[in-house]
Amino acid sequence: MKRFYLSLIAIFLGGCLLAQEYVPTPENIRAREEFSSHRLGIFLHWGIYSMYAQGEWYLSTNNLDREAYSAAAGGFCPSRFDPEAWAKAFKESGAGYVTMTSRHHDGFSMFRTAQSPFNIVDGTPFRRDALGELTAAVKAEGMDMHFYYSLLDWIRDDYPKGGSGVAKDASLADYDHYFEFEKAQIRELMEQYHPSAFWFDGMWDHDGEPDFPWRMEELYGFIHSIDDSCLIGNNHHRAVMTGEDFQMFEKDLPGENTAGFSGGQQVSETVPLEMCETMNWAWGYRVEDQAYKSVRELVHLLVRAASKGSNLLINIGPQADGSLPAPALDRLRGLGEWMKVYSLTVDGTAASGIEEQVWGVTTAAPGRVYCHILKPETLPAAGGEAVLVLPLNGRVASVRNFATGASLPWKADPAGFVTVTLPAPSSDAIDTVVEIDLRTK
Ligand code: GLC
Repeated sequence: MKRFYLSLIAIFLGGCLLAQEYVPTPENIRAREEFSSHRLGIFLHWGIYSMYAQGEWYLSTNNLDREAYSAAAGGFCPSRFDPEAWAKAFKESGAGYVTMTSRHHDGFSMFRTAQSPFNIVDGTPFRRDALGELTAAVKAEGMDMHFYYSLLDWIRDDYPKGGSGVAKDASLADYDHYFEFEKAQIRELMEQYHPSAFWFDGMWDHDGEPDFPWRMEELYGFIHSIDDSCLIGNNHHRAVMTGEDFQMFEKDLPGENTAGFSGGQQVSETVPLEMCETMNWAWGYRVEDQAYKSVRELVHLLVRAASKGSNLLINIGPQADGSLPAPALDRLRGLGEWMKVYSLTVDGTAASGIEEQVWGVTTAAPGRVYCHILKPETLPAAGGEAVLVLPLNGRVASVRNFATGASLPWKADPAGFVTVTLPAPSSDAIDTVVEIDLRTK
């Protein structure tokens, strides 16, 4: 009996150890640092859904026939696809990496795969490996490539239908079989293209079934066994799980939940953070969706994300002909103009620990704080000068305007705040940055 209890205890402890066993390697830690050193990434949702120009959920939301929908592949021939031009436009925006859909919920693979003919090389007249070509072009520009990969599949019979998608014959569901297919594709993706990260999505599809056998730890272990520096993130809208290397937030800054996806998603204090957002409304190209955010709004989002220690992954839905929508290109150029001057104030910075202020936010570099004045109209101003008040109790050494390098007068008040006087920024200045050097002691 005693032995029985001892074995029970051993099994319990073994279980605990197993659950905590993931220790990132030094290479992985370096990759995490690299990831966080770029605050801007470009997200791409591109697939045969782009042909319908109704967003990437068209099959599911319109309850289409799976076969009829898939027939679009036979006409997919994005003649204007120019991976080098795309990569150049992304690079010029100031982005450090690109995350593209290798396979979205409709199950269509945008890369060369032997696991299913439903792919861009074997299943379309285009016959080119779009993901592979883009990966090469992105890397040639010195950026990192990340792959979005859907864990759910609306078309394959072996993936058990969850909350999304269209009706399937449940007797054909076989998750273990599907899991082997995924593993084989992930091995191909890693061996063919060596991505820096995987961006998984779709686990929320079985949220109602806590026991759904996803086998994620096994999948993560498999990835890290092939390349321990490959980062893994999963858009499951929950706290970080064992084996994951970064945490993403859908359409919200970490800690906020305006879009309704992040309720209960505890912000990790150990792994890098990333927020993803659309430039307009939809992820996949949607012809009527022309409500693009302005460059000003996008810069503000980037800066606010950086102030929380997070990257911004900003999405573009390329068109069926292989071109990037004109308004998206315009926003990339605008972001690039801003980044050309200010990238140092976001890239490689960390959260400053100072809360968001009425006038804007702060980012931190070693020995330095950058104040991003996003709402200049809120600064008290008189005689052409404005006053910036900061909770930096006795820590200031010097203050400058970041863009001009001009020193700015400042004084500490007895209540422990620092007030900086600066020429009043015009109300349409996107982001006036005040650079503060901190005292070493
Ligand atoms: C959601 C959507 C999906 C999109 C993703 C991007 O999970 O279902 O279509 O790819 O968000 O964040």
